[in-house]
Formats: sequence, structure tokens, C-alpha cells
Amino acid sequence: MRILLAYDSLSGNTKMVAEEVEAELVRAQHDVTSFRVHPGAQYPLETDYDLFILGAWTADLGRTPPDMKDFIAELGTKPPHVAIFGTGETQWSMAYFCGAVDRMATYFASEYPRLKIEQMPNNERDHVAIQEWVAEVLSMREGVVK
Ligand SMILES: Cc1cc2nc3c(=O)[nH]c(=O)nc-3n(C[C@H](O)[C@H](O)[C@H](O)COP(=O)(O)O)c2cc1C
Repeated sequence: MRILLAYDSLSGNTKMVAEEVEAELVRAQHDVTSFRVHPGAQYPLETDYDLFILGAWTADLGRTPPDMKDFIAELGTKPPHVAIFGTGETQWSMAYFCGAVDRMATYFASEYPRLKIEQMPNNERDHVAIQEWVAEVLSMREGVVK
């Protein structure tokens, strides 16, 4: 499948998750276009991607960070297949933990599972969670397109 993987990362946590996600996608032999969103970027959006995977950190009180919001605005119409992951911190309260993941998934009406990692993937449980999430997303999508 042709997969677009776009992520927003301020201090590197979400980038680490994105890199693990990408490694799993490549291992499964998918064609991945990945990048970190940033102001002024020319995004490769001409391709007819089979699956969009978006990742973001969470900003103030459960919000989607501005660069990811700008990227989503550039997408224009909402793609039908969008899976969301993100990093956050439970110290901001469970109500706001990884709130951007929930906001984005709601915006895209995503039926894919949501992956939420506390800060950075730094233990075996996180690595397994990422691998299992990618496998689940792919198996949901592969039911339609190889
Ligand atoms: C200003 C600010 C507000 C934040 N608000 C939240 C929040 O509401 N919920 C949450 O889960 N994490 C919140 N965080 C924590 C970050 O989302 C978390 O550290 C994330 O892993 C950072 O990812 P990055 O290293 O990819 O930028 C906040 C961080 C900052 C700097």
C-alpha cells in the first residue's frame, strides 16, 4: 500500500514513535512517505495514498498542535482511511492525556484504533504496543487494498 505518515513533534517523543511505526510499515513491505510537519513545507500530497497515518504530541489542555492543524487544513477533503497515534503525559490529567489523538480521530471519524504513548517509547511494553497497533491498522486496511 502507499502510506503517508505525517507527524508533529516538538521535542522528539512523537518522532521516536513515528520512526518505530515507519520501521514496522517498511518491514511489512509498504511504500511509505514520511515527514515531520513544519511551517512553510511543501507537502507531497499529489499521490493517491491508500492510508494516512498521523501522529502528534498534545498541546495545551488536550489540543492538537498548530503545525499539525495546518497540515490537516492543507489536506483539504478528509481522506477515508486515517489512523492516529500520539504522545502525551498523564500528568496533564487523564481527561487531557493525548487529547490531540482523540480530537484528530474524531475529526476524521477514524474507525482505526488509537495509539497513545506516555512521553517516549522507552520500554518493551511501548515497543510491543507500537508493533501491535501497526499490525492492527494494516490488517484493518488490508481487508480492502494490498
Ligand atoms: C505547553 C504544553 C502543553 C501540554 N499539554 C498536554 C496535554 O494537555 N495533554 C498531554 O497529554 N500532554 C501535554 N503535554 C505534553 C506533551 O504532549 C508530551 O510531552 C509529548 O510527548 C511531547 O511530544 P514531542 O516530544 O513529540 O513534542 C504538553 C506539553 C507542553 C509543552
